[in-house]
Amino acid sequence: MAMERTAIIAGNWKMNLGPKEASSFVLEILPSLGQITANDPHIMSVLCPPAISLAAVKDVLDSIPVRHVELGAQNMYFAEKGAFTGEIAPGMVKELCNFVILGHSERRTIFGETDELVNKKVLAAFKHALVPIVCVGENSEQYENGETQNIIKDQVSQSLANLTAEQAAQVVIAYEPIWAIGSGQASDAHAAGNVIHYIRHLYHEMYGQKAADAVHILYGGSVNAENIADFIAHPDIDGALVGGASIKHDFIELLRNASKFKA
Ligand code: PGA
Repeated sequence: MAMERTAIIAGNWKMNLGPKEASSFVLEILPSLGQITANDPHIMSVLCPPAISLAAVKDVLDSIPVRHVELGAQNMYFAEKGAFTGEIAPGMVKELCNFVILGHSERRTIFGETDELVNKKVLAAFKHALVPIVCVGENSEQYENGETQNIIKDQVSQSLANLTAEQAAQVVIAYEPIWAIGSGQASDAHAAGNVIHYIRHLYHEMYGQKAADAVHILYGGSVNAENIADFIAHPDIDGALVGGASIKHDFIELLRNASKFKA
């Protein structure tokens, strides 16, 4: 990881931990997370609980001030407000947090989100000063057919279209091969690094050198406390989006190892 980019370890809790469980879990792990981020100014953690638990987790974060442990939502809609039953508006998210995951593969495959919709959400995030963590990644069939670069090119160019170069620089991209998510079968760090290198190249074409140097690109898919060292030590990989391992106490060890082994 280039020294000028802070390493980001984001935890995607998915549909786990309601308000009560979420606040007791964060109370338990926060002092240790805070110690790691206090000792290392180049690492940041972003906790992304379910929307209904955001306020409970924010209360804990406000009561134990630690630097560089941030809060993020897992999704939102792009409209300002109105008749969208079950959805959450960007302004509502911004009341509680500064980050939002957009276009996760589970949103794309289970809930039918398209690159066009993800792009609307990304633009809405910037309108509300939210940092979007935008997920891209190929499925196993596309991987086996050697289509990874084409898929990534489409997703990056469409999901991240129409930004200013300044906005583009602030984006966090998570490269998550779908076959690696929740499978226990993480990508090889070298192969993931190559795809991430390609994403940075695409970004350079879209938004220029400054944005390409500044954009954070994470790896996601079966990251755990052991294999984080391989990913974070890779010069092209700026951190990880962690699912299953982010709702266990192992997340502390994972963050510690990320701090220890980052390039
Ligand atoms: P996983 O999930 O770490 O459980 O594979 C990653 C993700 O879906 O963001």
